[in-house]
Amino acid sequence: MQFKNRTHTCGELRESNIGEKVVLNGWVDRRRDLGGVIFIELRDRYGITQVVFEPAYNAESHHAAKDLRSEFVLSIEGKVRKRPEGTENPELATGNVDVMVDKLMILNEAETPPFAIKDEVDTHEDLRLKYRYLDLRRPAMQKNILLRHKMYQLVRKYFDENSFVEVETPVLMKSTPEGARDYLVPSRLHKGKFYALPQSPQQYKQLLMVSGLDRYFQIVKCFRDEDLRADRQPEFTQIDVEMSFVDVEDVFAMMEGLMKVLFKEVWNKDLTLPIPRVSFEEAMEKYGSDKPDLRFNLEMQNLNEVFHNSEFKVFKEAIEAGGIVTGLLAPGCGDYTRNQLDVLTDFVKKFGAKGLIWMRVKEGGELEAPVAKFFNDDEKKNLVSVLGANPGDLLFILSGSRIKTLSIMGYLRLEMAKRLDLIKQDAEPKLLWVTDFPLFEWDEDTKRFYAMHHPFTSPRLEDVPLMDTDPGKVKARAYDLVLNGSEIAGGSIRIHNADLQAKMFKALGITDEEAQYKFGFLMNAFKYGAPPHGGIAFGFDRMAMIFAGEHSIRDVIAFPKTASAVSLMDESPSFASEEQLRELHIKVR
Ligand code: AMO
Repeated sequence: MQFKNRTHTCGELRESNIGEKVVLNGWVDRRRDLGGVIFIELRDRYGITQVVFEPAYNAESHHAAKDLRSEFVLSIEGKVRKRPEGTENPELATGNVDVMVDKLMILNEAETPPFAIKDEVDTHEDLRLKYRYLDLRRPAMQKNILLRHKMYQLVRKYFDENSFVEVETPVLMKSTPEGARDYLVPSRLHKGKFYALPQSPQQYKQLLMVSGLDRYFQIVKCFRDEDLRADRQPEFTQIDVEMSFVDVEDVFAMMEGLMKVLFKEVWNKDLTLPIPRVSFEEAMEKYGSDKPDLRFNLEMQNLNEVFHNSEFKVFKEAIEAGGIVTGLLAPGCGDYTRNQLDVLTDFVKKFGAKGLIWMRVKEGGELEAPVAKFFNDDEKKNLVSVLGANPGDLLFILSGSRIKTLSIMGYLRLEMAKRLDLIKQDAEPKLLWVTDFPLFEWDEDTKRFYAMHHPFTSPRLEDVPLMDTDPGKVKARAYDLVLNGSEIAGGSIRIHNADLQAKMFKALGITDEEAQYKFGFLMNAFKYGAPPHGGIAFGFDRMAMIFAGEHSIRDVIAFPKTASAVSLMDESPSFASEEQLRELHIKVR
């Protein structure tokens, strides 16, 4: 079928085009038949233009237009005219003009789509994902995809201008230790052997530093078989970065420059540098999270001082065991009913708290609560003053082991912010660095230390002696970048010295043989002059999500998977044929 190429897009025509003969190609967005005259809103990526079929103007095309339905694909030829007075549509950029159609060509028909192609769909997400190609026709989704495109270009330009080299690293590789489960790919040629899909290009980027590339970046797919959430996908995209001859400050300065560009170009906001920093310990104590949302205040308070002599058994035991008593003020919530408080108690129990202590602050600073009788006057007075409480407020207290208790209070902090509507739609975005993470994380179940980041992360040099004596106290040269309560990037300065790396493996209980088997290639490379180096990786989808003002990364990924890691559109994962399995030497249990 011969059809004419468009002279203009559907978002292009203005009053300056009045009188011109034009060709438009696009989809039928809406059709209105006003007894005689047929109006079609023709849509493409660029916008919508109204085209008009009038029998008196052109009987043949008007007749053909009677068959048009939503989502038919058209090519029309016609003349641009000023819309008759009073029929302009200020919602459309093209709304002052329309096109009187001389010729209509139907390029393709369409079945009725399973949901309307418009922005305000209340369709279940599963249906949108099954027909993702139709979902992506919606202007809101196209806007997100275009924003993502713009961000790719800004990122590439920024790193190119700063002498970074983009290098592709393998997708079939050996397992990487980022802490999640690997996706494995069976080898046909090597019976019983498997490739792993990269959880990140961590080892490769370090090898590129050994190779002398000096500054590397890559926009790269990573794969992690982990429990999914709104901000996690089994395959996701990182902006992966590594730099040689740098320390923490150099990495920060380079990444802050990138954030400044993105803030300006995407949001038209001037980001003030440097980005504020908070240590992991402080973030946990004040906000109960290593990715605090600073768009609202609500700070938690360490109450160990207040209760250091407490007779109250629960606090006494927590403090004696090296744990914490932490408090949170909920301003103006003193009128919460017993029922509301029970709901909040259940909320913290879900995260593993044994219970929730609450107290209503009355006139004169009196505290009203079932537990109030266990506290002496001094404790009550100090509690009110440390938390800055006023009559009408509500206090929450949790106690127990440090990180767990602080985390639970952190969840309650977020919950109260939601209930109190503290995060306003137009709140200024809040970026911060979280620094000085512990190098190791103790696991109660297996009774051993794990690397909090990954095993190539350098300890703070002054803490190296502690690796043998008190590993839990060692801090890492590791950092995260947090935007609006979401961890958008994480990285570290690496170990580049074989002795320190060996010490690290020892602390992690990784034997020489295991280290050799898993990371031997990196260890060997380090024998040939590894420069000091460090880097970071941004979660590109998360960043795009926040910049787009969305709440799920699925809304900024063209073809995402569901929370159960399924692609509803192509129905993957799917069964393999017996023949494929045999070739791969695999038998399904
Ligand atoms: P990390 O594991 O912190 O670091 O990952 C970097 C960033 O990637 C994003 N991210 C995810 N996004 C979507 N879905 C997921 N499943 C997912 N997992 C992580 C987060 C996170 O901050 N190699 C190191 C980086 C380094 O040390 O340089 C790494 O991968 O936004």
